[in-house]
Amino acid sequence: MRLDSAQINIISRACMKASKSLIRDFGEIENLQVSAKGPGDFVSSADKRTEKIIIDELQKAHPDFGIITEESGIINKSNKKNRWIIDPIDGTMNFLNGIPQFAISIGYEEEEEIVCGVIFDPIKNEMFSAEKGNGAYLNNSRIRVSNKKKLKDSLLVTGGPKKSSKIKEKIYSEFIEISNYVNSPVRKFGSAALDMAYVASGRFDGFWQRELNYWDVAAGIIICKEAGGFVDFFEEENDVPLKKNILASNSNIHDELSKLIQKKY
Ligand code: IPD
Ligand code: CA
Ligand code: CA
Repeated sequence: MRLDSAQINIISRACMKASKSLIRDFGEIENLQVSAKGPGDFVSSADKRTEKIIIDELQKAHPDFGIITEESGIINKSNKKNRWIIDPIDGTMNFLNGIPQFAISIGYEEEEEIVCGVIFDPIKNEMFSAEKGNGAYLNNSRIRVSNKKKLKDSLLVTGGPKKSSKIKEKIYSEFIEISNYVNSPVRKFGSAALDMAYVASGRFDGFWQRELNYWDVAAGIIICKEAGGFVDFFEEENDVPLKKNILASNSNIHDELSKLIQKKY
């Protein structure tokens, strides 16, 4: 990784440390206790273990920083000036099924704007990172979004809906409509963070998903932007804080995809 700011170094160190236990847990997947957290959403002891290692490591550097994290909620609530946004395992369902498509995602905010972030896939040893104004990287190489010109030729990825979603039908019909429109059916890989990292590195041309949580996408936002991509939030419901409907793509297909998503199905 060519980025060298204090924050990026702290975050990537936390990722590397947490990934050791995550890889061990992935190897022993059958032994993990899985408890139901809510419909369609499972939390394993690995999520909690990984999160603890990350928080301990980040707090060693800055005990006073705010933290928004999936398993433990909000820490140091009053500090909104400097804040880490953590998803210890994005792609838990894949993880629990022994599918190697999951990642640690950590974003860092200053004055409520994401200024750097890391998405680390410990199995493929791929670290996606970015810092405002300094570009986006996959390990040591600079990455850019794809240059695909036509939406029809694009490879898109999405996710959801959650079982509890009130707009489940809408999400399904949107998926079918958009899959019918493009030449290759839309993919679902089960990790929003990696979906965004793959848009940033040009593997996918575009990603959208409704009803995500902020920790799913915080690091992905800066990584996509710094890779030259467009990131938009659409049809936001202001009364649901931290929930995101997000669209990230290269700039050529962005407008067309945005219109297609906001069409009424
Ligand atoms: C989930 C993944 C998945 C997305 C879900 C998220 P989790 O995060 O990002 O791709 O479709 O909406 O909740 O639960 O594995 O951290
Ligand atoms: Ca997640
Ligand atoms: Ca998670």
